[in-house]
Amino acid sequence: LTTRVAIVGAGPGGLLLSHLLQLAGVDSIVLERRSRTYVEKRVRAGLLEGGTVDFLREAGLADRLDREGLVHEGFVFRFGARAHRMPFTELTGRTVHMYGQQELVKDLTRARTAAGARLWFDVPDVELRGLETDTPAVRCTVAGEPVEIACDFVAGCDGFHGVSRRSVPPGALTTYERSYPYAWLGVLAQAPPAAEELIYAVHGRGFALHSMRSPAVSRLYLQVEAGESVENWPDERIWKELHTRLDIDGAPELAEGPVLEKSCVALRGFVTEPMSHGRLFLAGDAAHIVPPTAAKGLNLAVADIKVLAAAFREFYETGDRGPLDGYSAACLPGVWQAQEFSDWMSRLLHRPTEGRVFDERLQHARLEAVVRSPAAARNFAENYVGLARERTP
Ligand code: FAD
Ligand code: DHB
Repeated sequence: LTTRVAIVGAGPGGLLLSHLLQLAGVDSIVLERRSRTYVEKRVRAGLLEGGTVDFLREAGLADRLDREGLVHEGFVFRFGARAHRMPFTELTGRTVHMYGQQELVKDLTRARTAAGARLWFDVPDVELRGLETDTPAVRCTVAGEPVEIACDFVAGCDGFHGVSRRSVPPGALTTYERSYPYAWLGVLAQAPPAAEELIYAVHGRGFALHSMRSPAVSRLYLQVEAGESVENWPDERIWKELHTRLDIDGAPELAEGPVLEKSCVALRGFVTEPMSHGRLFLAGDAAHIVPPTAAKGLNLAVADIKVLAAAFREFYETGDRGPLDGYSAACLPGVWQAQEFSDWMSRLLHRPTEGRVFDERLQHARLEAVVRSPAAARNFAENYVGLARERTP
C-alpha cells in the first residue's frame, strides 16, 4: 500500500488533517487504534474558540456546529459567594462556541467516510519505520491482515499516549513537563444547565466548573486530589459536592439528572521540542498537553493542523520543504502562550495545597484584579478567546 501522508490517530487532529489534505489534493490514510463507536463516544472538550470555529467553517465542516453549537459571549466567576461576569465578547469582539468534541469527531468522521477516505479503525499495533529516511513506512494490522504502508510523511496525531512520539529515538526530542497537585472529576449529566453561561467557581473546598453541551445536557467538573479514582465518587457524593461549591443565594440551584459519564483527569503541562523528527510531524496532544482549565487543548490541536496542512500543501504544490521544516517553530510560540495562560488560570481557580495561606492570599488578589481592573479583564479575555495566541510571531 502507498499514500502520501500516513496519519496516526482519528481524534479531531488526525481527522481534520486528512480532510484538509484531501482539499489540497493530497492522499492520506488514517489509522486509529480504537473502534469508531469508542472514539465517537469519548467525552472530552467542549469549548471552541472563535478562530477555531471560523477555520472549521472555511473548511466546510461547521454546518451542524453552526446549527447546534451554543454561542457564548461571557462567563461568570464565583468567589466569596458572589458572581462576577467576564464579558469576553464585549472586551475582544470574539465569541466562543460550546460544542462537544465527540460531536465534532462525529461530523469529521462522517465527512471523511462520505468522501471515501481510507479511515481505518481497530488498528491496534501501528509501528513506524524509517522516519529518518526518505522512505518511511507504517506497519500494522488492518482487519486481521498485516499491512505495510509506504508513505512520504507520517503525521503523529495519536494523543499523549500514542505511539508516534515514542517512536523517535531517545535524545532526539526534548520534553518539558509540569504536574499539578490536583485533578478533575468530570461529569456529563442529563440535566438542563442551571445558567446560560459557564460558571467558574472558586470555593474553600476546591474549584468547580459548570459547563454544558446543549439545553438539556450539563457538563460539570470538580477539583479533586491528584490520583483520585472515580470509584470514590458515587453520584450522590458528586451532586452534594457540586451543590456545595456551585449554589449561591439568589441564583437558580444546580439541576440534577442521570449521570451519563464520569471520569478523572490529571492536570499536566507537557511540551515536546521540536514537534517533528525526520519525516514525522507531531500535532495536538501527541506534541503537547495543557491542563484543561482554560479549554485550550482541542483549539491548539486545530491550530497545529492548520499550519501542518498548509505546509504539506506547499510541499506538494511547489516542492518547497521550507514550511514543513518551519512547522515546529511556527507552532511552539502559540503552544507556550496557551501553556502559560492555562497554568495561570489553573493557579487562579484551584484551591492551593492545604496550609499554603500565602498562595491563598495571592489567589484572592489575582481574582480581585481580574474583576476590578478593565486592563486585567481585557488581557484575560484576549487569552480566553484565543486572540492572544494569534498574535504570537
Ligand atoms: P486525541 O483526541 O487524543 O486523539 C488521538 C487519537 O489517537 C485517539 O482517537 C486515540 O485513540 C488514537 N491513538 C492513540 N494511540 C494510537 C496508536 N498507537 N495507534 C493509532 N491510534 C492511536 N480542550 C479544549 O480545547 N477545550 C476543552 O473544553 C477541553 N476540555 C477537556 C476536558 C477533558 C476532561 C479532557 C480530558 C480534555 C479536554 N480538552 C479540552 C483537551 C482536548 O480534549 C484534547 O486536547 C484533544 O482531544 C486533542 O486532540 P488530538 O486529536 O490531538 O488527540
Ligand atoms: C469545558 C472545559 C473547560 O476546561 C473549560 O474551561 C470550559 C468548558 C467543557 O468541557 O465544557
